[in-house]
Amino acid sequence: MNLERTNLTDIRIGEEISPIDTVVDGFKTYQVVHSALRLGLFDWLEEHGPAHREEIGEALSINGMFTRSFLQVLTELGFLSADKDRFANTNTATALLVRKSPAYQGDWIVNAAGEHGKWKMLEETLSSDAANKTGFSDGPSPEFLKALGQRSLRGEIQGVTALLTAWEGFGSAKRLLDLGGGHGLYAIAACQQNPALAAVVFDKPHVIDLTKEFINDYGMDNRIQVMGGDILRDDPGSGYDIVIVSHLLYKFRADLPSIFGKVASALNPKGLFVSNHWFCGPVCGEGSSGVSELDRSIHSYGHPLCHPEEFEAALVENGLVVTRNTTVPSNFGSSHVHIAERTPEGCSQSSRPDEPCGCRSCR
Ligand SMILES: C[S@@+](CC[C@H](N)C(=O)[O-])C[C@H]1O[C@@H](n2cnc3c(N)ncnc32)[C@H](O)[C@@H]1O
Repeated sequence: MNLERTNLTDIRIGEEISPIDTVVDGFKTYQVVHSALRLGLFDWLEEHGPAHREEIGEALSINGMFTRSFLQVLTELGFLSADKDRFANTNTATALLVRKSPAYQGDWIVNAAGEHGKWKMLEETLSSDAANKTGFSDGPSPEFLKALGQRSLRGEIQGVTALLTAWEGFGSAKRLLDLGGGHGLYAIAACQQNPALAAVVFDKPHVIDLTKEFINDYGMDNRIQVMGGDILRDDPGSGYDIVIVSHLLYKFRADLPSIFGKVASALNPKGLFVSNHWFCGPVCGEGSSGVSELDRSIHSYGHPLCHPEEFEAALVENGLVVTRNTTVPSNFGSSHVHIAERTPEGCSQSSRPDEPCGCRSCR
């Protein structure tokens, strides 16, 4: 670029700069919260109570030149309250940013900038064929799964569990399988609701140690087991009353019939299958907006599931008949929950489990 003829005083940058400032300030704001979490600020304040700025700076080794403005940003964000120079956690920080809180979201925040994360390496993410590049032994990392568990607690776990417990067979269910369960929170929540229920969380062999940590944290070691394997190759067993599959199927679009076949074989007759996934809107491409839509695409291997009619047909072909199709809230818009019952042996035609299909077992 040759700037020799440019008169610098002719350059005008006006209000149109404001989206650019918003973007850069957004990054800096993120860094403030990220650093506060990494420094353990919210945990420290929770333990010590309201403290003077200098005491906080000293305890967390923050240079005195920055303490006031650093804490001020967090106050403006609503995470700290300030009384003169004394700072304390607000209720929001206590609930969401203190590690020991059950609703802690800190790993979700930190993981957004995780070293090898999809957002940190966005150019690579955008230019790669994500679905093909991810091999069986690549990820997910423990950090990602912890973050995912925290994200799921924003309504999905609660919504799916409420649908599950509303099923008439829930009270008498004895065994549940959570396929691709990762953190295992769906299995844990279900077991909390039915003291007679035991569960198996099936996931990749390198993931299940992290699953065990979650199971242990919730005191479920005696009721929930883990099983390492590949859903495409291995057998998760049989005799289950409930099978849950949540946010696993995006990269297995072409394998749905075979996976549903495994689900059907795992289920007892009249057992329940619960699927929780994002689907595109009535018109493909319709969905949430902006960054949230891009995030959902990244998390669903490029695109949410399409063609709900084909999804349901693949279920029916395997003797799984959809009895309810509803949504639960997720942080990328609504997630679709399909609830299906396994028909008696040999039935695959009926549109509802209570309608006979004409085969011998239905007579
Ligand atoms: C996006 S996470 C979903 C975790 C959890 N079900 C949820 O909804 O939050 C997908 C999970 O499926 C597991 N997974 C992916 N491919 C798998 C395979 N071939 N066999 C078994 N598990 C697999 C991953 O390890 C990961 O834990």
